[in-house]
Amino acid sequence: MNNIENNMPPLQEPDRQLYFIEKCKELVAKKSEELGRPLRAVTHTLGCQMNARDSEKLMGILEKIGYELTEDEDSADFVIYNTCTVRDNANQKVYGRLGYLKNYKKKNPDLMIAMCGCMMQEQVVIDKIKKSYRFVDLIFGTHNVFKLAELLYERLNSDTMIIDIWEGTNEIVEDLPVDRKYTFKSGVNIMYGCNNFCTYCIVPYVRGRERSRNPEDIINEIKRLVSEGVKEVMLLGQNVNSYGKNLENPMSFVKLLEEVEKIEGLERIRFMTSHPKDLSEELIQVMKKSKKICKHLHLPLQSGSSKVLKAMNRRYDKERYLSLASRIKEEIPDIALTTDIIVGFPGETEEDFEETLDVVSKVRYDSAFTFIYSKRTGTPAAAMEQVPEEVSKDRFQRLLKLVQTIAAEECNKRVGQVEEVLVEEKSSREGMMSGRLSTNNIVHFDGGEDLIGQIVKVQLLEAKGFYYIGKLVK
Ligand code: 5AD
Ligand code: SF4
Repeated sequence: MNNIENNMPPLQEPDRQLYFIEKCKELVAKKSEELGRPLRAVTHTLGCQMNARDSEKLMGILEKIGYELTEDEDSADFVIYNTCTVRDNANQKVYGRLGYLKNYKKKNPDLMIAMCGCMMQEQVVIDKIKKSYRFVDLIFGTHNVFKLAELLYERLNSDTMIIDIWEGTNEIVEDLPVDRKYTFKSGVNIMYGCNNFCTYCIVPYVRGRERSRNPEDIINEIKRLVSEGVKEVMLLGQNVNSYGKNLENPMSFVKLLEEVEKIEGLERIRFMTSHPKDLSEELIQVMKKSKKICKHLHLPLQSGSSKVLKAMNRRYDKERYLSLASRIKEEIPDIALTTDIIVGFPGETEEDFEETLDVVSKVRYDSAFTFIYSKRTGTPAAAMEQVPEEVSKDRFQRLLKLVQTIAAEECNKRVGQVEEVLVEEKSSREGMMSGRLSTNNIVHFDGGEDLIGQIVKVQLLEAKGFYYIGKLVK
């Protein structure tokens, strides 16, 4: 007799979680009968694509347990916050929401509140929640998202706050239910964690060391997704270019891409994020000849000043970044380059900032995420001499203006072209649909909802800064 028949939780994953999903399901069904309505759950996701993917996993589990997924917090019985801690403003937002949720809980004492994600990996945050937000039911971190059902079951059988934070892990548990936001595209984790220790960044401390998934597991997952109707995958990792280095049988990211390319029925491949220090010539060549890899590369610059880059521990300088960007554009002229930039890093002078503007003018990004440096306790940069807030704010505005001007000019260049578009959803514009070009730009065009999930040809009629208005080409 196995453990499930025995009614004992299995020790092996994912069986253990499947067992707890069943257990929770019974309790949720009972409660729902009592109330005469389904129980509803809502997930709030802050931060990056990794978190978005984790949220799909959380929702998959909640749905399986019997919760109806909703976006309306007012009527929810289970609220989960998947947090980000990369910049302090994301943390402040979470504390703000918690204050608000306290009132909901007064109205609905059965409301369950769960907190997870990167912010929970910080001891100061846990201490603060334990002290000031006692009404939170469940806290877990980035390494044990898969354990939601087990933790919920524990909470439903006790009346104290359940806290389960792991320092790190070698365990990668997949094959649990996932509720994908789109039927036709999906993120796929290829690695977790980060080994780079950029001096401003908290991610290595909250997401742990780099761990690559086995290529066979990745390929099998993508094949399964394709059989379910997925046409586009986004391979996810903090630094995809160092994929596979610590596998038992090491394998390069380029080799992985070649294997993914072979999957029949898969039409588009994207990946995020590339670290410039590890981006190889082979990758450029594979992108150039690939029929499936999208014409888009996100290549975080962070700063254009070699001095600042050194202080950031980025391990490339201005010249190397510029020559890498021009190699890429030389080989793949129609590629869209996007980036992340931080202004006001400790010690950044006006001259350093002008070097950043110089790189932006030379590379001509199709879009850029720009951030004001945020001091993260525990990182080396927190102890460095800080730039005054007014100076950072002023630089931020100047950078934004340049980035937007150039992005609009780059966007304009494609007007008139006919491009392949993966249709995603009904547009916010009356009577239109919206989808994405290979370059990741959005286009709104005339068409019906029957096109959702299909790749169609659209002529770009008008550029609107960073998106287009187009016309379906029959
Ligand atoms: N302050 C501001 N921006 C940051 N990023 C990471 N850490 C910080 C910080 N402390 C930005 C980087 C990174 C993106 C995900 O967030 O630009 O590429
Ligand atoms: Fe936020 Fe970084 Fe965590 Fe993503 S990995 S959720 S950006 S802290």
